[in-house]
Amino acid sequence: MQHLRHCQGLARVSFLRTQRAQLLKGVAPAVTACVLPRWQSSGDYGGQSGQALNSLSLRWTHLLAGLVAGTGAVLAYGLHNSQAERAATPIEPVTPSSFPIYSQDEVTKHKTLNEGVWVTYKGGVYDITQFISMHPGGDKILLAAGGALEPFWSLYAVHGQDHVLEILSEYKVGELSLEDQKKQQKNADSSDPYSTDPERHPALNINSLKPFNAEPPPALLSDNYITPNALFFKRNHLPVPRVDPKTYKLEIEGLPGRAVSLTLNDLKTRFPKHTVTATLQCAGNRRSEMNTVKQVKGLNWGIAAISNATWSGARLRDVLLHAGFGPEVASKAQHVQFEGLDCDVTGTTYGASIPLGKAVSEVGDVLLAYEMNGEDIPPDHGYPVRVVVPGTVGARNVKWLGKIVISEEESKSHWQQNDYKGFSPSTDWDTVDFKSAPAIQELPIQSAITQPAAGATLDRSMEEVTVRGYAWSGGGREVVRVDVTVDGGKTWHIAQLENSEKGQKPAPSPPPGQAWAWKLWEATVPLPAEAQELEIMCKAVDNSYNTQPDSVAPIWNLRGVLSNAWHRVKVNINEDSEGEE
Ligand code: MTE
Repeated sequence: MQHLRHCQGLARVSFLRTQRAQLLKGVAPAVTACVLPRWQSSGDYGGQSGQALNSLSLRWTHLLAGLVAGTGAVLAYGLHNSQAERAATPIEPVTPSSFPIYSQDEVTKHKTLNEGVWVTYKGGVYDITQFISMHPGGDKILLAAGGALEPFWSLYAVHGQDHVLEILSEYKVGELSLEDQKKQQKNADSSDPYSTDPERHPALNINSLKPFNAEPPPALLSDNYITPNALFFKRNHLPVPRVDPKTYKLEIEGLPGRAVSLTLNDLKTRFPKHTVTATLQCAGNRRSEMNTVKQVKGLNWGIAAISNATWSGARLRDVLLHAGFGPEVASKAQHVQFEGLDCDVTGTTYGASIPLGKAVSEVGDVLLAYEMNGEDIPPDHGYPVRVVVPGTVGARNVKWLGKIVISEEESKSHWQQNDYKGFSPSTDWDTVDFKSAPAIQELPIQSAITQPAAGATLDRSMEEVTVRGYAWSGGGREVVRVDVTVDGGKTWHIAQLENSEKGQKPAPSPPPGQAWAWKLWEATVPLPAEAQELEIMCKAVDNSYNTQPDSVAPIWNLRGVLSNAWHRVKVNINEDSEGEE
C-alpha cells in the first residue's frame, strides 16, 4: 500500500517535471521565496478555466516555494533577538494509522540526497527526496531536511491551504512518535519568525496576519486628514525586522570613491530636517473590486490600502550630494536602488528602485524619513529609516532601509521586475511577460467613498445623503475636483475638497507638481424621489485633467493593481421612518 502510494507520487513527479519546465520558461524567478506574495491570494488562479495543467504546475511551484520560504523563516528569525511567543501552527497529535512510527532521531538521519531527505509536518513523516531533485533551488530546501516544516511554513500562512497539504500528503512515509511530537510543540513555541512583530491596533481589518497586512475601516480613514500611525495601512512582505538604532548603518554604493556609511545620528544631525505631507497608496488598493470581475492574485485589499502622513527626515538629494553624487555620475546612472533589512530565504532583501531624476530632484521631495507624524517611524512602517517617495507607488517606499545603490539599471528585486506592473485585461498567467511592462512608479488618479458604507440604510426623512471620501493622484498632480452622482451619472454634484483637518483653515495650495497629499471630500446630495436603492458613485479629476475610468473590466489585470475605476457604493433607503415619527 505504502509502496503503491510512493509510486503514484513518483509518476506524478515525472508528469509535473514537464509541466514545471514549461512554467519556468515564463516565470523562472518566481520559484523563489520572493514570489510568495503572489500566492497569498485564495489560491484560485482565476480566469484560467480549462488550464488544468497550468494550475497543477502552479500548485506544484506553490509547494516548492513553500519549502524555500520555510528556510526564510530561519534566516529572518535570526534578525529577531527577543523571546518568542507561541508559534501559529499547533501540532495536533495524529490518530493511529497504518504508517510506521519513526523517532525524531530516525528522521534526522535523513538529511542528504544519499540517505533520502525526510521532513515532518503535523506529526507526519514525509520523504521529499524526489521533490528536491526537481527543485531549482534544491540546496535551500535542504535547510529543512531532517526536521519539522512548521517553523518554515509559519512564515507564510498560505501553506496551510488544502491543495498544498494534498501534494505533501503524497510523500508521506510514516508518523512521528508522540513523544517527539510533544518535543516539537515545545520547540515550535520559539520558532515563529513573526513572534516579535509589533502589536497592532485592533480596529484594523486584517488581510493577512503573517506577514502582517491590514487596512483601517473606511469610515475611520476619512475621519482624519493625517492618518494616525496606528491606523495607517500596513503592507509587509516579511516579518518586521527589529533594528537597533545604535548600530544602524545606511550603506551608499555606486558613487565615486569608497562606499559611504551613515549612522542614524548622521542622518539626523548632518542634513537639514525636511518635512513633507505625503499619501502612500499600495498598488493593490481596491483590488477586491477587480476580483468581482475575474479572480486576480494578491491580497484582497478594500479601499483603504492608502493613508496620509507627515514624514520628516533627510532629503535623499542632500545625502547623495554629500556622498559624492555629481554630473559625472548623473551622465551614467539612471536609477537609485533601495534595499530593506527584511530578507527572504536566500538572504535577499526587499528591494525597489526609482528613476535617478526623481531621487535627486530639488522638487521631488524624496526623503530618508526617520519620523512619521512627529514620532519615530513605528516598527511596521520601517523603523528607524524608510524611503518616502512622494507621488510614487507604495512599493518603492522601501522600509527598514539598509542600502542605497546608484546604478545604470533598475533594482533586480522580484518586486521591481516581476510584480507591481500593469497588463492588458487579456494577458493571463500563460502569456504574461513581466519584462514587457514598466515597473509602476507614479500612480494614476484615484478616489473612493468612505461614507456611507456599502449596504448602509439611509433614512428617507433625511431627504439628502452626505457622501465622504478621499481623492489623490500620483506624480504630484493635484486633485482639482471630485464629482458625485446618485442617479447613475445623469447629474453630478461637485464635492467640497479639504486639505487640512476638520475645523482647521485650509492649507495653502502646494506648488505645481508637488501635490503629494490626498484631499478628503464631502458632498451632500438630495435623495432621488421614490428610489429604494441607490448607487452612489464618485470620480476625481487632477490638474492634468486625468480622470478615473468608469468601470473595472477594461482595466482588469491579472495582479489586480492600479484599480481606480469610479467607486460605487450601493445603499438602501428606509421609507418607513417618516411614518414612525
Ligand atoms: N519595504 C520593505 N523593506 N518591505 C516591504 O515589505 N512593502 C512595500 C513598501 N516598502 C515593503 C517595503 C509596499 S508593497 C508598500 S505598499 C509600502 O511599503 C507600505 O508601506 P506601509 O506599510 O508603511 O503602509
